[in-house]
Amino acid sequence: MHISVLKEEVVQNLNLKENSVIVDATLGYGGHSSSILKRIKKGFLFAFDQDSEAIKYSTNFLKTIGTNFTIIKSNFINMEKHLTELGIKEVDGVIFDLGVSSPQLDEDERGFSFHKNARLDMRMDKENSLDAEKVINTYSEEDLTRIFIEYGEDKYSKNIAKNIVQKRQEHPIKTTMELAEIIKNSVPEKEKRKKHPARQIFQAIRIEVNHELDVIRPALESACHLLKVGGRVEVITFHSLEDRIVKKYFQELTKIDEKVKGLPNIPEEYLPNFKLVHRKAILPGTEELENNHRSRSAKLRIIERIK
Ligand SMILES: C[S@@+](CC[C@H](N)C(=O)[O-])C[C@H]1O[C@@H](n2cnc3c(N)ncnc32)[C@H](O)[C@@H]1O
Repeated sequence: MHISVLKEEVVQNLNLKENSVIVDATLGYGGHSSSILKRIKKGFLFAFDQDSEAIKYSTNFLKTIGTNFTIIKSNFINMEKHLTELGIKEVDGVIFDLGVSSPQLDEDERGFSFHKNARLDMRMDKENSLDAEKVINTYSEEDLTRIFIEYGEDKYSKNIAKNIVQKRQEHPIKTTMELAEIIKNSVPEKEKRKKHPARQIFQAIRIEVNHELDVIRPALESACHLLKVGGRVEVITFHSLEDRIVKKYFQELTKIDEKVKGLPNIPEEYLPNFKLVHRKAILPGTEELENNHRSRSAKLRIIERIK
C-alpha cells in the first residue's frame, strides 16, 4: 500500500477553498487527491498520471468521495496542453509528488526492485518504448557510466558499467536479479555490508528510463504559468538532483532585481511575480519518519504567485 508523504503539510499549504480548482500532477494511489477532493466540494480536481494501473485504482477510490474530478493519463509535462483543451486557463494550486509509488516498487513484474526477480522493465508508462532492458543492453559503456555517476552518485559506476558491457557480450541481460548480481560483484566486499549496492544503480536506471529529471523544469514552468494570483505550486522531491532543479527554478522566479535589492520600499513593478512560502524546504517530522520509511528523503517546496 502507498502511504502519502507530507499529506497534512501538502493539504494545509494549498489554502483550499470550497471552490478551488486544483491539479494533482502525480495522482498515484490518490492519497493527496482524496484529501484535496474532500475539501473542494464545489471546486474541481484535475489529476495526471502516466501509469494505467494507478489510474484504474484511483478512479474507483476518488468516486467514493465525489464526482468533481477528471483523471488524465499523460505525462505531466503535457499538463497545460490538456487543461487548455478542456478550457481551463488558470488554477488555484498544483501538487507534484515525484518519483514512483510503493505499489509500483512492490509489483514483481514492473522490474523496479532489485529484491524481486523480474524482466528489466522500470517503465512508469507501459506504452513507452524505452525500458531498462534496452538501456542495459544497448547504451555504450560511457553512457552507462555517466548515468550511474550523475543519477546514482555511485563511486563504483565505472566498474559496474564495464562489467555490464562485458557480461552482455556473452548474452543479453534480461532480469533484475542478473543485473543486481553483476552490480554486487563490481563493488568491494566492505561496501556490500553497508547497504545493497544495487539501490543507487537501479534508481539511476529508473530515472533514465522515465526521463524523470528532464520533465521537471518544463512542467514547473507550465504549473506556474497556470497559477492564479494567490495560487500555489507544491513539489515533493525524493532525490537531491530533483530538489536542485526545483530549488533553482523557484529561486529564479522569486529573485529581486539587482537594481532595487536592499531598497526599503521596492516599487511594485520591480517585485517578482512569485514568493517562496517557506524559505527552507519542509521535511517530514519524527513521527512520519518512523511510520513511513519512504519519507526519509522527502522535501517539500512551495511557491505562490503574488501578482
Ligand atoms: C509518489 S507517487 C504519487 C503518490 C500520490 N501523491 C499519493 O498520495 O498516492 C508518483 C506517481 O506519479 C506518477 N508520475 C511520476 N512521474 C510522472 C510524470 N512525469 N507524468 C505523469 N505521472 C508521473 C507515477 O506513475 C506515480 O504513480
